[in-house]
Amino acid sequence: MTIFGHRGAPGYPRHGENTIASFNKALQAGAGGLEFDVRRCGDGRIVVIHDDTIDRTTNGKGRVADLSYDQLKVFDAGFGEPVPLLSDVLDRFGARCLLNIELKDAGIAPDVKKLVLERRLAEHVIVSAFEWAELPGLAPEIPIALLTSRLENLLIAARELGAAAIHPRKDIVTPSLIAAAREAQFRIHVWTVNEPAEMSRFRQLGVDGLFTDFPERCLTDV
Ligand code: G3P
Ligand code: CA
Repeated sequence: MTIFGHRGAPGYPRHGENTIASFNKALQAGAGGLEFDVRRCGDGRIVVIHDDTIDRTTNGKGRVADLSYDQLKVFDAGFGEPVPLLSDVLDRFGARCLLNIELKDAGIAPDVKKLVLERRLAEHVIVSAFEWAELPGLAPEIPIALLTSRLENLLIAARELGAAAIHPRKDIVTPSLIAAAREAQFRIHVWTVNEPAEMSRFRQLGVDGLFTDFPERCLTDV
């Protein structure tokens, strides 16, 4: 079972999420994968941040789309680190583990694809999105995953889009969904699983991976 550090290993309440330090902490805790979110900033570059503003996760204020990277990088995203560029995260971690890149903005898939392919990292990456319409164009070169909190149309759409995986929210995961995913040869990675008892339960159910804010809690169990 692949343990993905969800935004790294920020704990909860989260501090220092989606930063290089948080990703290093997740890998040191034994995670085999890193999950993170990407958006386009004001100068067109792709940055690693969950929200569409920097207000919650840095000591600055403003919309990501309105700030150039030079403006963005002066703010503290946790423990003195800036919001990273996707290119930096790929360069530092791409060869070391599996990376789940979640698209948070519309229209950025071609830029993400280019950054991944020029580094020959396709085998180390899964690109996911809640907005499934953002994903065509990535596959088959880059594995894609349908991210969702609803079961409707999930397996049909995954088949149509050539998905490698489905990423359901934990409360919609049932043994029958796992069996259907297995039958269709989709990997199934579940989010966001923070309690040791539920980590054990999903492992016993046979999911392929889970996302957690606490990868260190999975160590004894995988
Ligand atoms: O990929 C699973 C999870 O990260 C999706 O929700 O809001 O944490 O990006 P969120
Ligand atoms: Ca995410």
